[in-house]
Order: sequence, then C-alpha cells, then structure tokens
Amino acid sequence: MIITVGNTKGGVGKTTIAVNLAVEAARDGKKVLLVDTDPQGSSIAFRAERETDDIKAISLISDKLHKDIKEFSSAFEWIVIDAGGRDNAIFRSAVAACDLFLLPVLPSQFDVWAAEDAIAVFREIQPFNGMIGRMVLNMVRPNTIVSSEAQEALAVYQDDIPLLSEQLHNRVAYKASISNGQGVTEYEPSGKAAEETIILYKELMLLKNN
Ligand SMILES: Nc1ncnc2c1ncn2[C@@H]1O[C@H](COP(=O)(O)OP(=O)(O)O)[C@@H](O)[C@H]1O
Ligand SMILES: [Mg+2]
Repeated sequence: MIITVGNTKGGVGKTTIAVNLAVEAARDGKKVLLVDTDPQGSSIAFRAERETDDIKAISLISDKLHKDIKEFSSAFEWIVIDAGGRDNAIFRSAVAACDLFLLPVLPSQFDVWAAEDAIAVFREIQPFNGMIGRMVLNMVRPNTIVSSEAQEALAVYQDDIPLLSEQLHNRVAYKASISNGQGVTEYEPSGKAAEETIILYKELMLLKNN
C-alpha cells in the first residue's frame, strides 16, 4: 500500500495526517516507510523526535519518486508519502507513485477552491496509474455548519475523488503529540483525536482491500 497525502496548498494537515497514518500502520504491525517530499522536512523532523524505531523515514525531494518507489515497495508493506505544497514535478511524481491519493481539505470556501488544483493533478494522472482518490476534511470545528457547506461544495467531485465519511476535527492532541514524535493514539489513547484517527485508518484499510 502506497498512500500519498498531498495538496498543493500548505497548512492543511498533510504532515499531521501522514505521520498519524504511519503510526497507525506501525501499531497494526506493518513495516512502514515515511517518505518526505516536502523541503520543509516536517515528517523527517517528526521521525527525529520519535524514540521508537518502528517507522523508517527518508527525505526524497525528487521528480523520479514514481520510478524509484518500486524498490521500496518490495521492502515495506506501508509507504506514506508526505507530498506538499505546490504543483510541480516533485508533487506530480508523488501522486504518480501511489495506490491511494488522500487529499486533506479544510472546511472553508478558500480551501475548497484551492483543492481544485490538486484534484486536477489527480484527474490527469489517475488514468495512468489506476490509483484510488479520497478527500478528507481536516480541522473541522465541532458543531459548525461550515463543514457541511464545504461537504456540499466538494460533492461535485464525488465520482472520482469522493469525500471520506470520517472527518478529523480541530483538536489539541494533533499539535501536542508531534513534539514527542508520537501519533495521537499514543499521546492520548482514549482521546477523541485517537478515536477518529483509528476510524480513518480503518476506512482506508477497507478501501485497500476492495
Ligand atoms: N486536526 C487538527 N487539529 C489541530 N491542529 C491541526 C490539525 N491538523 C493539523 N493541525 C495543525 O495545523 C498546522 C498545519 O498542519 P501540517 O500538518 O503541518 O500541514 P501541512 O503539512 O499541510 O503544511 C500545524 O500546526 C498542525 O499541528
Ligand atoms: Mg507539511
């Protein structure tokens, strides 16, 4: 399973989601590689803080990732690619490299518009690699109507890159866990962030088995 968490926009939670999915896969007993294609190196910094050596991480700022990834996929069961933050050859290569493209979107009209760039890249590349695409709403504020408006706006993409039913909410644990090199399920196992992250992981696992 190669999953690219990507958006051409920064600050939407690509790294947060990528590292938390990597942690879930590792907790699930998978051999996990985290690939950071963002020059900001946030996923690498997360790994540096992580005491457990269950997640391997590399920085690969390369437009040949879609070619080189095959070697890695024979050594790792789960590869999570953290792909940000603008539309260039490196981003496109990260999209071309995956089985599943996960596009985090914040629940605002600006973010819905901004997601269209990444959706266009997904649509262009999908016929060549046969990947699945899903969007996930991130940093949703509980009890707001903004997220249902965003959901409606994103419904037009339902046929090729549908929105996952599970949403991630704006929660302190997503920020606080990172400096410990932990996922939210490790930082606060019985918290709400942990609960929704586990559901998200399971939802993605089901897709993979389809
Ligand atoms: N669900 C969330 N709840 C609270 N804070 C979040 C959540 N997702 C991301 N963040 C915070 O938002 C900021 C941007 O997230 P990040 O994962 O770095 O985005 P990106 O990799 O897309 O630039 C970070 O400070 C991160 O801690
Ligand atoms: Mg990032």
